Amino acid sequence: MMTIYRPIVLDEEIKFSKKKFIVSKTDLRGNIVFINKNFSDVSGYSEEEIIGAPHNILRHPDMPQAVFYLVWKTLLSGRPISGVIKNLAKNGKYYWVIADLEPKFNPQGDIVALTAFRRAAPDHVIEAAEELYATMLAIEKKHGMEQSIAYLEGFLEEHQITYHDFIAELIKPKGIISIFLEAFKKFFT
Ligand SMILES: Cc1cc2nc3c(=O)[nH]c(=O)nc-3n(C[C@H](O)[C@H](O)[C@H](O)COP(=O)(O)O)c2cc1C
Repeated sequence: MMTIYRPIVLDEEIKFSKKKFIVSKTDLRGNIVFINKNFSDVSGYSEEEIIGAPHNILRHPDMPQAVFYLVWKTLLSGRPISGVIKNLAKNGKYYWVIADLEPKFNPQGDIVALTAFRRAAPDHVIEAAEELYATMLAIEKKHGMEQSIAYLEGFLEEHQITYHDFIAELIKPKGIISIFLEAFKKFFT
């Protein structure tokens, strides 16, 4: 692993093909142990640079901490979770992804690794996430993460929906993409 400098954040989006699935795998502390070529193509980081680096290398300042808190809590309790994430590329630009994260187990039932499959987020998903996250981030800056989680819970209650169903409905892969995605996941597991 080499030293990685934090890029200067640019307000410019990277768009990539809906068929370009981005894969990574980490250890239980979130250090990257595997990436696929699409990961390099979109993020701009080579395998040599990024293997061994913490996954928060992609962390965008517009992302609320509460989202990652939920991600880690869910994964380490042995359950999968999907989310919408704004990522920061090496060149400072951003790209939105829908990420399906899941724990991997050994035959004894211990969690041994965490994997992420990502695809491009469609515009309506980006718009919904942008609005929700901007509010959560503002709450976090003023009142801390607990309040931002409470806001998210209130938002869901108001819409009479669980977090899981909210995300599932928002990100449900449609049509042919869902078939590609399933085939792609099988190839990597
Ligand atoms: C398998 C896996 C994939 C992850 N992918 C991303 C990602 O694409 N972007 C991101 O910002 N964080 C990702 N994370 C979360 C990071 O580990 C980290 O929690 C997050 O960037 C927030 O940084 P912080 O915990 O240092 O505040 C991933 C975590 C795991 C376990």
